[in-house]
Amino acid sequence: MSTALVILAAGKGTRMNSDLPKVLHPIAQASMLEHAMRSGRALAPARTVVVAGHGADLVRNAVTEIDEEAEVVLQEEQLGTAHAVDQAREALQGFEGDVVVLYGDTPFVSADTLERMVAARTSADLVILGFEAADPGRYGRLVMQGDSLERIVEYKDATEAERALTFCNSGLMACDAALMFDLLAKIGNDNASGEYYLTDLVELARTAGRTVTAVACDEAETLGVNSRSDLARADALFQSKARAELMELGVTLMAPDTVYLAFDTVIGRDTVIEPNVVFGPGVTVESGALIRAFSHLEGCHVSRGAKVGPYARLRPGAELAEDTHIGNFVEIKNAEIAEGAKVNHLSYIGDASVGKASNIGAGTITCNYDGVMKHRTEIGARSFIGSNTLLVAPVKVGNEAMTASGTVVTQDVEDGALAIARAKQENKPGRARKLMDILRAKKARLVKGSE
Ligand code: UD1
Ligand code: MG
Repeated sequence: MSTALVILAAGKGTRMNSDLPKVLHPIAQASMLEHAMRSGRALAPARTVVVAGHGADLVRNAVTEIDEEAEVVLQEEQLGTAHAVDQAREALQGFEGDVVVLYGDTPFVSADTLERMVAARTSADLVILGFEAADPGRYGRLVMQGDSLERIVEYKDATEAERALTFCNSGLMACDAALMFDLLAKIGNDNASGEYYLTDLVELARTAGRTVTAVACDEAETLGVNSRSDLARADALFQSKARAELMELGVTLMAPDTVYLAFDTVIGRDTVIEPNVVFGPGVTVESGALIRAFSHLEGCHVSRGAKVGPYARLRPGAELAEDTHIGNFVEIKNAEIAEGAKVNHLSYIGDASVGKASNIGAGTITCNYDGVMKHRTEIGARSFIGSNTLLVAPVKVGNEAMTASGTVVTQDVEDGALAIARAKQENKPGRARKLMDILRAKKARLVKGSE
């Protein structure tokens, strides 16, 4: 059975108080919409249709970046959830299979839950995802009769007795596409909000002699985000789950609460993460590495046995081979550091390659940017770059080469050569004492003059 996802993402999210559409706010460095789309991938959808409204251009761009094949349809006016799903009618014309409705602002629904919803479709025409709410608040209530779902009543339209129900509507559902669009055409807006309620599908389906059931999931999966506080709570929830999963996989987090992970962080077994480390998107750390305190990693790969930090910054394209050492206040960007190489103190290595077992002295800078273009620096194997060397790219340093401290390298250095490019030192005997005497005398005159 093929599946089409319809993801509702047209709402404004007034309470976010933001220029950014609500669904584009990030949790663990991926937008809520991306989380929802990634969850939906568990169903291997044949089609994905995102319903955009507020900030539709931004949403469209984001969707294309996440999944080139996903379609975006526009809901010009937000007239309710049923009206929103109906905007996908044309895009899904002739589609045979199930429609699964997801919310762009409900990022945490699990693959297992979605699979259970689709599985439940074999015994019911319409499947609603519900949850037992600790505080049912203003959620729609599911009115059950045994295994059968009678109807969903919105909080605003509910009686006191119905409001006392705690089994609530997540908003997510699965239904045969043809049946869903048939029934959607019959939904009106005669209710307390004057909106077209998607929840009315339940009664309409039953009236048409169809079966409706509810599948239950954990409340945490249906967590919706409406405000910045909700966003922070959702992020915290994601973080604690992701940290627990890593520890389960054999990663040591010395102070788990201080480690910030991205949605796609991958860390191998027996790697140790010290306190206050931040992971941006796209980081893979292999087994047995050490990431020391206050380091920031993003779009990089750290191999087995490498040591990073404290206070290191690995930017996109940083590729650390096995047993490399990247020390304090070192920034690596778009650069390959080969096996056993060391960059231990206060350096910037960008658009570069450093060969096996080379040592980069403190304060070394690759001058990779001329104000217009970026250029590469290539350093061979077993070379020694003296402290405070400036490598003015494009430039190459060979194997087993050296640069003297303070050298400004503007020409290639061949294998085995030593490059020295700095002013020659000259010592003037007795000159320091003489200069001191002159300066002291000058100061004494000044002090006297001001009295
Ligand atoms: C909806 C459900 C309610 C459920 C709750 C769960 C209805 C009528 N009610 O209520 O039973 O308990 O979700 O969170 O469905 N959206 C659009 N276009 C619209 C309206 C909404 O795209 O015209 C999108 C929103 O951006 C959001 C989602 O649909 O992602 C839900 O809309 P929202 O207004 O939050 O519905 P609730 O009132 O919370
Ligand atoms: Mg809502």
